Amino acid sequence: MDLFEYQARDLFAKHDVPVLAGEVIDTPEAARAATERLGGKSVVKAQVKVGGRGKAGGVKLAATADEAVARATDILGMDIKGHTVHKVMIAETAPEILEEYYVSFLLDRANRTFLSIASVEGGMEIEEVAATRPEAVAKIAIDAIDGVDEAKAREIVEAAKFPAEVADKVVNVLITLWDTFIKSDALLVEVNPLAKVASGDVIALDGKVSLDDNAEFRHDWDELHDKAAANPLEAAAKEKNLNYVKLDGEVGIIGNGAGLVMSTLDVVAYAGENHGNVKPANFLDIGGGASAQVMANGLEIILGDPDVKSVFVNVFGGITACDEVANGIVQALKLLEDRGEEVTKPLVVRLDGNNAELGRQILTDANHPLVQRVDTMDGAADKAAELAHAAK
Ligand SMILES: Nc1ncnc2c1ncn2[C@@H]1O[C@H](COP(=O)(O)OP(=O)(O)OP(=O)(O)O)[C@@H](O)[C@H]1O
Ligand SMILES: [Mg+2]
Repeated sequence: MDLFEYQARDLFAKHDVPVLAGEVIDTPEAARAATERLGGKSVVKAQVKVGGRGKAGGVKLAATADEAVARATDILGMDIKGHTVHKVMIAETAPEILEEYYVSFLLDRANRTFLSIASVEGGMEIEEVAATRPEAVAKIAIDAIDGVDEAKAREIVEAAKFPAEVADKVVNVLITLWDTFIKSDALLVEVNPLAKVASGDVIALDGKVSLDDNAEFRHDWDELHDKAAANPLEAAAKEKNLNYVKLDGEVGIIGNGAGLVMSTLDVVAYAGENHGNVKPANFLDIGGGASAQVMANGLEIILGDPDVKSVFVNVFGGITACDEVANGIVQALKLLEDRGEEVTKPLVVRLDGNNAELGRQILTDANHPLVQRVDTMDGAADKAAELAHAAK
């Protein structure tokens, strides 16, 4: 989960990374009181989860509370690279900025370690610095067990050639930032710019944090979720513990196992080329034990998607036998009908693997008017695409 800048700021503050005061608002008028609380001037900053806000006009200085209201009026509702600004942060104005640096910690999957990236040429896009002047960007691997102590922090400071007069302060930022990274189970913590200001202090003026969703069970992240941006079907699926991603096609997909579902998306997209270019409407992996309950929950989400015109249930029986899955499908349809959900969309079911014959027989015997059996994956994909096209 990516955080907004104001959430990153709050997290940094909690772990003693030096930041400036700031509060998030969602109406222009609220900028007035917030700016007055900061002593009558502020920086108005668009809160969107995309880079380059400053360049897009989403970061503006306001010398008075009136000006803050005017800038907030401009920025709220603005579109930045396809992201609408719903919130702005009213931030304390930094004292005169003398230099802008870059520091981050991230998970380096390729090298199976953590990595620190640091540069004294921060502020602008670090990717550009890395591409044009790679020598200006220091990359130091961090051992997961040892972490970042003072010695490691000094090593980073030296590698990136931070000026001597800020070395101690940057060391402090690195240690507190590492603390933020580890204790928050983050995949990325980035400060750009880390500013040296006139007073000699070094302050994190902008933060990006990405948290590891796999660690959510040991944190209280409810408040961090961006409910406004969540797709309602994805939110409903999440509540039911389903592995669901909404896509923009017409063929609903249910499969068991992420790999099978991925390849199902491919064959459906391919088959769709012969049927009016219909495409998969979602990714949904119901996992190993495809019980009737789980199948019903999955079908309910998919049938609740108005874009879906047909459904392809693609199951390869492994540990879960096909007869259990077939019973699951039959019971799921009944469960939905009992819940008062009218099932009107055609289902194409392909069963293969463990106990396939038995499973197919169960479907044949059930003789549900909306369920069609097709026993090959390509054939079933083609049928599902054809039905979706016909219903479009
Ligand atoms: N509180 C502040 N006080 C003074 N100047 C600021 C403040 N916050 C940001 N700035 C200035 O505005 C510039 C851009 O701000 P910021 O880094 O937050 O946005 P950005 O880099 O454009 O956005 P993104 O990181 O999303 O690409 C900074 O480099 C800094 O010079
Ligand atoms: Mg920035």
